[in-house]
Amino acid sequence: MRTLAIVNQKGGCGKTTTAVNLAGALAADGHRVLVVDMDPQAHATLALGFDPEALDENLYEVLAEPVGSPAAGRLSDVLQRWSEGLHLAPSGIVLSALEQKLTAERAERRTERLEAALATVHQDYDYAVIDCPPNVGVLTFNALRAAQEVIVPLEPSDFAIHGVQKLLETVALLSDRIGSDLSVRILPTLYDGRTRYARDTLAEIRELFGNLCFDTVIRSNVKLREAVRRGQPICSFARKANGTLDYAALALELSLAPPAELAADATANAALVGGDREIAMRYRDPGATDVRIAGDFNGWVPDKDVQSLVQAEGSERVWTKLLNLPPGTYHYRYVVDGEWREDPDNPNAVPGPVGGRNSVLVVR
Ligand SMILES: Nc1ncnc2c1ncn2[C@@H]1O[C@H](COP(=O)(O)OP(=O)(O)O)[C@@H](O)[C@H]1O
Ligand SMILES: [Mg+2]
Repeated sequence: MRTLAIVNQKGGCGKTTTAVNLAGALAADGHRVLVVDMDPQAHATLALGFDPEALDENLYEVLAEPVGSPAAGRLSDVLQRWSEGLHLAPSGIVLSALEQKLTAERAERRTERLEAALATVHQDYDYAVIDCPPNVGVLTFNALRAAQEVIVPLEPSDFAIHGVQKLLETVALLSDRIGSDLSVRILPTLYDGRTRYARDTLAEIRELFGNLCFDTVIRSNVKLREAVRRGQPICSFARKANGTLDYAALALELSLAPPAELAADATANAALVGGDREIAMRYRDPGATDVRIAGDFNGWVPDKDVQSLVQAEGSERVWTKLLNLPPGTYHYRYVVDGEWREDPDNPNAVPGPVGGRNSVLVVR
């Protein structure tokens, strides 16, 4: 099963439209596809014609219990069937309670719950397509952990481009931390080729992101809005619409570039160095003057065996710590002006033996 997460913290850029219509296009090509709705707003659930309030069970039942409990195996019980080849793991407003619960409790392995649940059905589907909420919280982290590939829909506008650069950094960082080869690609959406602004902005996106950008562009097409109202993927009722053609092109482009090939130019800053992996850890803090890293990989001696770089980014300073590590699981903390701190960007942390929390880095 190939698992794709559709991620962008900005709302209205076409995540849900992409999740549902890409899934529809893949199913129309004969693939077995699961849409996973991780947004408490349940837009993908609605777009496939299910009323979230009328469903007795949804992803909450599966994700509310810790990894290792039987809950993960319940995924197949909560699935809904849109057609033979297209199934849905529905959402509901209770997922927002789950987000709060997991965030507040800092529960063990709280970002691995979706991964564990999807592992129970991976023989049943060729693709899982995860629709994410418009923020990078614990639900999106679950999607990123579960996925091998990330698609970032991007509406051609200056603000959107700015936001997406930050998002790419976050994804690369997470990808480093969990030691996975998450491949990230950008999908231009809501494109209106009649305006000069859109054409110029698309050219800029291609220049900025190069190979990271799909060749496919999703044009603005009112039929895509109609599809939501009908509760159907566009290809099932408007075969010749631009929206159908564009999502079919995306499905084709994806099938031509399987993840193994993509991994070679993954954006993660990890590269193989001998048997070790080179890991780039980034820490940003406007107030700090001295930042070091210490962990079981360097005997908890701050910055021992670490190459350290400092860059100015606007008014902020960003520290990059380069580590060469063999595959394994490591615990670490940053030492910021002498104070030992958990990594603020890493959701994976465990209580340290002398109080506080150690962040966890898995190198695969
Ligand atoms: N290519 C498109 N053409 C026309 N309307 C679109 C297109 N993509 C998305 N929309 C519409 O824009 C709105 C936001 O899209 P949506 O997929 O819900 O974004 P997100 O999930 O990122 O918030 C919806 O009303 C949707 O129908
Ligand atoms: Mg959405």
